[in-house]
Amino acid sequence: MLRTHTCGELRIDQKGQEVTLSGWVQKQRDKGGIVYIDLRDRYGITQLIFEEGVTNPELIEKAKSVSREFVLNASGEVVERYSKNEKIPTGDIEIRVSELKILNVSKTPPFTIEEETDGGEDLRMQYRYLDIRREAVRKKLELRHQMMSKVREYLTDDKFIEVETPYLIKSTPEGARDFIVPSRMNEGEFYALPQSPQTFKQLLMVAGLDRYYQIVKCFRDEDLRADRQPEFTQIDCEMAFVEQEDVLNTFEGMTKFLYKEIRDIELGDFQRISYEEAMEKYGSDKPDLRFGMEFNELNDLVQGTGFVVFDSAELVVGINAPGCAEYSRKQLDGLTDFVKKPQIGAKGLVYVKCNEDGSFKSSVDKFFDQEGLKAWAEKMEAKPGDLLLVLAGEKDQTRKALNELRLEMGERLGLRDKNNVVPLWVLDFPLVEWDEETERYHAMHHPFTSPKSEDIDKLDSDPGSVRANAYDLVINGVEAGGGSIRIHDRELQAKMFKTLGFTKEEAEEQFGFLMGAFEYGAPPHGGIAFGFDRMCAMMAGEESIRDFIAFPKNNSGRDTMIDSPSKISTEQLAELGIDLNQKSKS
Ligand code: AMO
Repeated sequence: MLRTHTCGELRIDQKGQEVTLSGWVQKQRDKGGIVYIDLRDRYGITQLIFEEGVTNPELIEKAKSVSREFVLNASGEVVERYSKNEKIPTGDIEIRVSELKILNVSKTPPFTIEEETDGGEDLRMQYRYLDIRREAVRKKLELRHQMMSKVREYLTDDKFIEVETPYLIKSTPEGARDFIVPSRMNEGEFYALPQSPQTFKQLLMVAGLDRYYQIVKCFRDEDLRADRQPEFTQIDCEMAFVEQEDVLNTFEGMTKFLYKEIRDIELGDFQRISYEEAMEKYGSDKPDLRFGMEFNELNDLVQGTGFVVFDSAELVVGINAPGCAEYSRKQLDGLTDFVKKPQIGAKGLVYVKCNEDGSFKSSVDKFFDQEGLKAWAEKMEAKPGDLLLVLAGEKDQTRKALNELRLEMGERLGLRDKNNVVPLWVLDFPLVEWDEETERYHAMHHPFTSPKSEDIDKLDSDPGSVRANAYDLVINGVEAGGGSIRIHDRELQAKMFKTLGFTKEEAEEQFGFLMGAFEYGAPPHGGIAFGFDRMCAMMAGEESIRDFIAFPKNNSGRDTMIDSPSKISTEQLAELGIDLNQKSKS
């Protein structure tokens, strides 16, 4: 071993011991008669001291010659520091070095390896191995490891077994595009990388494994955001002989266990809400329940008064922003600009200030008198000092826009405290949704989700109104996981494919293997998958999942460190039977 101790473990108790440490130079300070080096490894920082009159002069020269990120091996005696550093656990001691080896030199790093770095995102990603030397990033990877081992502990104790499923498969429909891998041995044919192991975990239930889990990579070719990566990790789970309630209880238990073990947070029983109620009250299927500000529908109160914006709207709906009646003209204009942004898409914003003296001032005073506005305030349970913000238009779009405004107001009012953890089950999702573009129904979760038994008879007549045994776990407005009770009957699965516009042949060609398996005694089963990267970020109170992944991709799906994706040689292309000019020829 090139060390007797790590750079994080020596204390005053070890005073007088001869030790050897190895690590990187965090900092070197030449104070004339004394040279200090802060030596860093994964475990911490220890100060090395080289002092004229005590240390051999050659050694002092050597210490002077090193700079940031050199790799050193230093031996010496643990001594008590003259001036202690209370900021670090090793701050009471230093090593009076008697032997120093330079194990490797380093170029000056392109950014500082410190808590607050001067490196931008691109540079950090290009030199990710240096970025990971920073404590802030390393801690996130340590948290990820801890999460992984706690998940394994919980599920193993609950009789789940981890089974690996293949990565070279055929398309699984989770709603994104597939990443495709050409097959050399089967020219002109392609594998798809799994968007999730969905069909395999169901087959493992048919196979009698009873409780499966896997911490598994999934691949989805979709637009990237802070909480989305093209390859990400799921905690993927499936259970046989269960109903929805069993799955919810098991994974509510796992989530509570993780928060307790990792953050020492005791979560109470999770709230539950139906999809319909979530949309009505918050305009989102993943509402942030750290704060109220529920929607109030005002159609009954405000329509028929001659204000055409309201009269012609499918929905008039508002929120009450507590204590915001003092908002200035400029602030209100700012909110109007916010809702009019193209990605939010509202046409305008109506406000009512509930003044402290009991009067009202609104942007629609021309159409509504004080009595009228008082009725709105009553409906919205507003108090003097509150501000009502109202949007109108087509139902889905207006709800979506007001959801954004609600989140923005929550943010401005400091109601989205990252230390407050509010988990929520969203239940009873619709089975399918109509897609205007393709003019067909799409599975809202995936095509293997079972309809609620009481709604099955509407599958032919009114598929849009059928509810599914599907559920999402939402934490602080982020979708942490989602799952469903599955169809385990061939007939029903075939019917589902028909509803989704598959011909019998298409369904057979793509999913014949699964429907075939259902004919050999498939047990009732259901499961869930959590976004593991998201769970890690959430556990740390962060939004971006990127630093919880050792080597993530950027927003264009590139890994700039290894420069991927990249072109391949003509030989490789030929071997795979791929002719890149084919498109232009045909
Ligand atoms: P779903 O598609 O809802 O369900 O995915 C489960 C969870 O995975 C996370 N997630 C992502 N995380 C990071 N980057 C992405 N691109 C990304 N896409 C999804 C989310 C999501 O809740 N097979 C089903 C599960 C089941 O039915 O059991 C599935 O994959 O946190």
